[in-house]
Amino acid sequence: MDVLVFLGSPRKKGNSEVLTEAFLEGVKQEGGLPEIIRLCDLTISPCISCGGCDKTGKCVVEDDMIPLLKKIISTDKAIISSPIYFYGVSAQAKAFIDRTQALWNRKRLLQQKGEWVDNPERKGFFISVAATKGAKIFEGAVLTAKYAYDAMGMEYAGDFLVSGPDKRGDMKKNDKKLAEAKIAGRNFILGLDAHVD
Ligand SMILES: Cc1cc2nc3c(=O)[nH]c(=O)nc-3n(C[C@H](O)[C@H](O)[C@H](O)COP(=O)(O)O)c2cc1C
Repeated sequence: MDVLVFLGSPRKKGNSEVLTEAFLEGVKQEGGLPEIIRLCDLTISPCISCGGCDKTGKCVVEDDMIPLLKKIISTDKAIISSPIYFYGVSAQAKAFIDRTQALWNRKRLLQQKGEWVDNPERKGFFISVAATKGAKIFEGAVLTAKYAYDAMGMEYAGDFLVSGPDKRGDMKKNDKKLAEAKIAGRNFILGLDAHVD
């Protein structure tokens, strides 16, 4: 089973990537085949609100997002991973998410024509890390991820959120969370509740 993995941190081998790798160990154990897409290596312009996709469901901005939109349509499982930046996702992840507006319009137009079919196999997961432990630290990012998956026509399958890691290498020291993430990755592919306590 193909799994699209969108890495939103510009920091290579940073905390969100280490956590995502642990989650992917579980994904692979259950037969998932991850394709890792490092968003900061791509050219993904912000949405320019031109209204082009309102009429066609297709984005007119010709950059690296166009092949990603096609991949999202043809893949059943996705993971978005991002550190928390100012209580939201990173700018790279947000530009990517804003550009899924074309998929939201595609879905709306297909629904209008009675041609949209909900596919319960299509599911998305969100992984995040934040340095601080405030009660609401992940709230904004989780809402953003939920509505991104709505645009993509995927059910929100859950999230794995770790507060505390800040410096590069911090996440690697948290064996307990890495082990839990691996279980959550297995559960995601098995279609079980991915939440682990
Ligand atoms: C621009 C920027 C904004 C940040 N904003 C927050 C924040 O609002 N709250 C927080 O707890 N951590 C914040 N952080 C810390 C990161 O979430 C933290 O360092 C995280 O471990 C980075 O993950 P990464 O290694 O995957 O990039 C911010 C870091 C940067 C660079």
